[in-house]
This record gives sequence, structure tokens and C-alpha cells, in this order.
Amino acid sequence: MLVSAKEMLDKAKAGHYAVGQFNINNLEWTKAILQTAQECNSPVILGVSEGAGKYMTGYKTIVGMVNGMLEELGITVPVALHLDHGSYEHCIKCVEAGFSSVMFDGSHYPIEENVAKTKEIVALAHAKGVSVEAEVGSIGGEEDGVIGAGECADPKECKAIADLGIDFLAAGIGNIHGKYPENWAGLSFETLDAIQQLTGDMPLVLHGGTGIPVDMIKKAISLGVAKINVNTECQLSFAAATREYIEAGKDQQGKGFDPRKLLAPGTEAIKATVKEKMEIFGSIGKA
Ligand code: 13P
Repeated sequence: MLVSAKEMLDKAKAGHYAVGQFNINNLEWTKAILQTAQECNSPVILGVSEGAGKYMTGYKTIVGMVNGMLEELGITVPVALHLDHGSYEHCIKCVEAGFSSVMFDGSHYPIEENVAKTKEIVALAHAKGVSVEAEVGSIGGEEDGVIGAGECADPKECKAIADLGIDFLAAGIGNIHGKYPENWAGLSFETLDAIQQLTGDMPLVLHGGTGIPVDMIKKAISLGVAKINVNTECQLSFAAATREYIEAGKDQQGKGFDPRKLLAPGTEAIKATVKEKMEIFGSIGKA
């Protein structure tokens, strides 16, 4: 059964580790992440962007697939199904479809509007036991056509949003989605520290987990980050393994063209990436 992400993230914050959010795109992704979480006895969050939701034909399809897999694969670790960077309308759709967690990304609105809309989402999501992530300060890079510049959030604005009863908070600290450019300045630990001082026990979320050096990840966890989002890195691992298979001509040997064979190396590669991240985040054995 899907669970809200609140309890697992409160535990992670108190225990000084982070739970990974891994974005899903299809059945192979979902299966790879769920099996790895189970093998590692780790809680996990399946992230779904609006674009991925559309690709998989809609939120109801995803809820059906994930719930089916939890049962058929015998998954017993805590799993949350979470809308990533949702608009107001899509948060409502996901709550209705059976997601157990949503992120309302109002970071592009003026703070007053972000506050007002976040408050409404909290009320309607909590009425159904669904956890809510909110965002202050846009995360840089491009994700599904949404482009942000990698801002550092204003700690006072973070406090204003944290006080609305949300369950965890994404705050920009110079992080960006996708690969980091050579001249990236790194995470702003000063900003993170100031945010944590004002928001106390609130689990903080680090987006753009791909390519952040391990020492920065560990420092971020020590300063209150309890959820780390990873998307691009699984895509890169999947693509590299699939490329290798095809370049070795394996799709042309025997039944190597069978999608169940063709997609197997990529699926295994996702598993390896997820496991590596869970080790770094410290969530192994914390289910
Ligand atoms: P990356 O694609 O950089 O790993 O970021 C993922 C993310 O933050 C999803 O919200």
C-alpha cells in the first residue's frame, strides 16, 4: 500500500539521512526502483513529473501500475507516489487519482500567491492523507520545459511557507536540474543553514540530485536535507547501457530484439544507480 511521504521524511530528518525520490517514466523504471528499494530495505519515493504523467497516459494509469506492482512484487518497504513540480490543477488531479504525495510548485508566483495557493493544496491534500511538498526559490535548469535560474531562496519566505502546515520544503540553494555546468558555484550551505535555523524540524528537499558531489550531498544532509531528487542520472545510466547493447549488435543476435531483452541492461543500470544513491543518502536498512 502506498504511504504518504511525511512519516518517512520526518524519520529521515531525525535520523540524519535522506530518502531518494527517483522519477519514473515507464514500467521498467518503476520496477527497477521498487525492486532496489526492497532489496536495500529502504524507503523510497517515486516521482512523477506532469510530462511523465502525460507520457504514461495519465495519473490513474500510474496509480494502477504502482499499486499492482506493490502487490505482485511483494514490496513491503514504505513507498510514496509523488507528483513532482505540480501545478495547482495537477495536484488536485493526483490527489483524486490516488497519489500519496504531491509537490505544489508555486515558486514562480509572487510569494503572497505562492502562500495562498500552497495553503489551499495543503487543506485538500491533508483531507485525504496526502503529503505536500512546497517550493521557494526556483530550481535552475530545465525540467519538462520549465526553466529556472538556480536561485537561492529567501529564508524568511521559506519560514512563511513552512508555517502553512506543509510536510516538507524544497528551497533553492543554487541547485539545478540536469547536468551541472563546469563553472557551477556549488550548493550554498550558508543559505541552507539559514533556512534550517528558521524552519526547525521541517524536512528539506534537495532537487537536482544528479551530479552533486558526494561530499556536498553529505553536508546538505547534515544541514537538514531529508529528501533528494534524482532523475537525469537514471536516464543517463539507462541510455548508456542500452547503447552498449545495441552497439555490440546484441539486438541482432537470436531474439535480442525482444523488448524484454533489449530493455534489460538499461533496467539493471537503473537499479545500480538507485542502489548507489541509497548508499550515499544513508537510507539503506531504514525501512
Ligand atoms: P536531476 O534530473 O538533476 O536529477 O533532478 C531531479 C529533480 O530534481 C526532480 O525534481
